[in-house]
Amino acid sequence: MILSISFVHKLAFYTMFSTLSDSAQSALAETFGVVDVEVKWERPQDPSHGDAATPVALQCAKKAGKSPREIADRLVEVLSAESDIEKAEVAGPGYVNIWLTTDALIRTLGTVRSACTAKVKRENEAPVIIEYSQPNIAKPLGVHHILSTVIGQSLANVSRHLGYNTVTINHLGDWGTQFGKLAVALEKWGEKPVDVCTLDDLLELYVRFHKEVENDPTLEDAGREAFRKLEEGDPDLRKFWQSVVDITMQEMQTLYDRLHITFDYTQGESFYEDKMQPVINEGKEKGVFIEGEGGALIVEFSEESNMPPAIVVKADGATIYLTRDLATILYRVSTIKPQAISYVVDVAQSLHFKQLFATVEKLGWDLPRLEHVVFGRMSFADKSMSTRKGNILKLQDVLDEAHKRALIVINEHGEKIQTDDVDQLAEIMGQGAVVYGVLSQNRKMDMIFDWDKALSFDGNSAPYLQYTHARAKSIVEKAGGLEGIESIDSLSTKERLVLNTLLQFSGVLHDMQRSSMPHILANYLYELCRDYNSFYNEDPILKADEPARSFRVHLTNLTADVLKTGADILTISVPDRM
Ligand code: ARG
Repeated sequence: MILSISFVHKLAFYTMFSTLSDSAQSALAETFGVVDVEVKWERPQDPSHGDAATPVALQCAKKAGKSPREIADRLVEVLSAESDIEKAEVAGPGYVNIWLTTDALIRTLGTVRSACTAKVKRENEAPVIIEYSQPNIAKPLGVHHILSTVIGQSLANVSRHLGYNTVTINHLGDWGTQFGKLAVALEKWGEKPVDVCTLDDLLELYVRFHKEVENDPTLEDAGREAFRKLEEGDPDLRKFWQSVVDITMQEMQTLYDRLHITFDYTQGESFYEDKMQPVINEGKEKGVFIEGEGGALIVEFSEESNMPPAIVVKADGATIYLTRDLATILYRVSTIKPQAISYVVDVAQSLHFKQLFATVEKLGWDLPRLEHVVFGRMSFADKSMSTRKGNILKLQDVLDEAHKRALIVINEHGEKIQTDDVDQLAEIMGQGAVVYGVLSQNRKMDMIFDWDKALSFDGNSAPYLQYTHARAKSIVEKAGGLEGIESIDSLSTKERLVLNTLLQFSGVLHDMQRSSMPHILANYLYELCRDYNSFYNEDPILKADEPARSFRVHLTNLTADVLKTGADILTISVPDRM
């Protein structure tokens, strides 16, 4: 936890510091002959060390042939002369810490306001494609699907917010031998026609198939045969497949609505059925696809890459997952012409994506930036949420459980929570708790989900965020609106703290977008809530005298806006009242 917050501090440079950077840079060039060095500002961990600090003296000491302290001394001298700086000091082995004037700090508040407004889409810029969710159909969504789904959606949201031309795609797993197996199972054991089946019925059939195949291996062949017929266009099998797709999509949509998930395109693997042959031909012609064991078509990779060969077409002529992914890239490159494609997919598929990216490189295509945005596993601290072997824990059940638990929490808090619609609040809190529980953790690590933590009112959780937002909103409402900010002579320690944290917002959004790490934003919002609440507990707001009162209402209003903007990006709703 602490670790990830310090990560934010390192990356979230103050964007408005460019003039200060410029004067430091010229001093470095003139006095020490050091050019080509970027002066970056970090926020000190301890607010008593100033509003910002730069390690640049340490970074260029070697180049300059001087001690870091000597360089830092010179920078302090130059920076102290700047009108926006109240005080500059050397700290430690050669850090330069600065304190801004109250005026300068307040002037920069406008940048926070504009960071809350979505930038206009840069239409003429090549799009970035973000692909996420991608469930395999004919099964209910399992709880693990929430990872790709909300990580991907939040990355798409931040990308759009920052004005990137963003295209989102749900690459459904809607093709492959499993449909042949399902068709066989339905024919053998189905009790009703497919179009009146629920997803649970389909899952049951699928599970039954896998059980029966252990005693009757011919079922496997029957399944493969049925899929072959489906591929060849058998009308009955096509109809069956379409029904399965429709049933799945319908149920999935309810969950996507609940989670605030939208896609520009839903293009499953089946979409590429007729787009694979040209790729296969091209690979063969270019000598990239070669004959492997038993007549399969394979790709081999260089020794240093340490990857086993990948199959592109199986010995029996069947195409596979990788073949469809190759066709997918070609299609996207030629129709959407993206500058980047991000695949938000489980770390278990790392080898697949390495092989895919290496293969398209070998094919010599003009490629966008390709990135596999990995994530680890999610498990529950609560053992009752673990599943018996072969069963899936359904996402819907987890969201229902979250709703139920949120209701209990609301009732426990009694008068402290005010709402006109308890059920709606429980849904917002429950959905928020689950989503925030995922997005507040470093996606690259395995995550542990803990109900008590996720629904707590005073921890790093969605309810804490939601409650802080509602508190800030109610203060602004009671204040009867916003007055213009008059100049203020000095800031209290807590005002300064909140102000400094607010000023990080734009940098945090850019960091999240650049690194594809939603927890940077989640942890920042938590930090803002803590800072705001400590300000609220220490400084009077509505009872303060002017001009402090107006200023504090402004800070409160901006805090609410930043919390709402950030929560929206994370797909979480924050109520105005609770
Ligand atoms: N449907 C796949 C699965 O559930 C994930 C698809 C990932 N995307 C891709 N382009 N391969 O395992």
